Amino acid sequence: MNAPPPDTLLDVRDLRVTYGRRRGGFRAVDGVSLSVAPEETLGLVGESGSGKTTVARCVAGLIRPDAGTVAFEGRPLGPAGRRPAELQRAVQMVFQDPRSSLNPRMTVAAVIGEAWRTHPSTAPDGDRTEALHRLLDDVGLDPSTAQRRAGDLSGGQCQRVSIARALAVSPRLLVCDEAVSALDVSVQAQILRLLDDLRRERKLALLFISHDLGVVHQIADRVAVMRRGELVEQGAAADVMGAPRHEYTRALLDAALDLDDGTPRDKDTPA
Ligand SMILES: Nc1ncnc2c1ncn2[C@@H]1O[C@H](COP(=O)(O)OP(=O)(O)O)[C@@H](O)[C@H]1O
Ligand SMILES: [Mg+2]
Repeated sequence: MNAPPPDTLLDVRDLRVTYGRRRGGFRAVDGVSLSVAPEETLGLVGESGSGKTTVARCVAGLIRPDAGTVAFEGRPLGPAGRRPAELQRAVQMVFQDPRSSLNPRMTVAAVIGEAWRTHPSTAPDGDRTEALHRLLDDVGLDPSTAQRRAGDLSGGQCQRVSIARALAVSPRLLVCDEAVSALDVSVQAQILRLLDDLRRERKLALLFISHDLGVVHQIADRVAVMRRGELVEQGAAADVMGAPRHEYTRALLDAALDLDDGTPRDKDTPA
């Protein structure tokens, strides 16, 4: 087992996940190793079913791998419930479907308030309303959004709220799992730009997961390509996109280019 490079925030080593037990179960992730440096965006791409979300679940501590390790700044990231508060807030998730990850009846103010209650060390000392408005402004939402219910917001606004909720607890790493896949192309571009701005301003690292290499291309510094539970290729975005070494990456790239040519885009691709 190789040691992670010194400048590593997240380090995933030899990860293996099996679902179910019938006939030995289904190996969804098989020996995946990847790392994310501080303030870097790693794009994790692969077709639906390739195991991307399973990797994300391991990083979030929602499932336990059969084998392998997940570490943050050299400290093991165990199951979510057993993480020290500081590690728990350091790694925050943004999911694909904001409508299922936000309670539609809660106001935006309540969503953010809950995040601050969960991690009191990150709650503002002074005027909470002012801090809330600043946070909303940072994600491109009007302060008046604070009193609106999540269920009354558009998909793009919901995703901005999800991002605000993650940012509220001052994370170091955002894991975005298909975070723009349910959005219209124009809104996708806005959210991608927002994530990249926030990364720079707040010195965040991103593990950006998508089935769409075209989307990953817009934001990633490095790209890791997954196929059937394994990593087939990993490298600087310019290298992977400019001169893909693996046939599978080339196929993903062709698919992304076809979409740019005006072929109808299937936004509902299951992921
Ligand atoms: N809870 C589960 N039980 C059984 N199989 C699962 C479960 N979750 C995912 N899988 C299977 O594992 C594979 C990888 O799934 P997933 O990690 O969601 O892939 P991706 O996010 O790349 O679409 C798929 O074949 C999927 O059907
Ligand atoms: Mg997925």
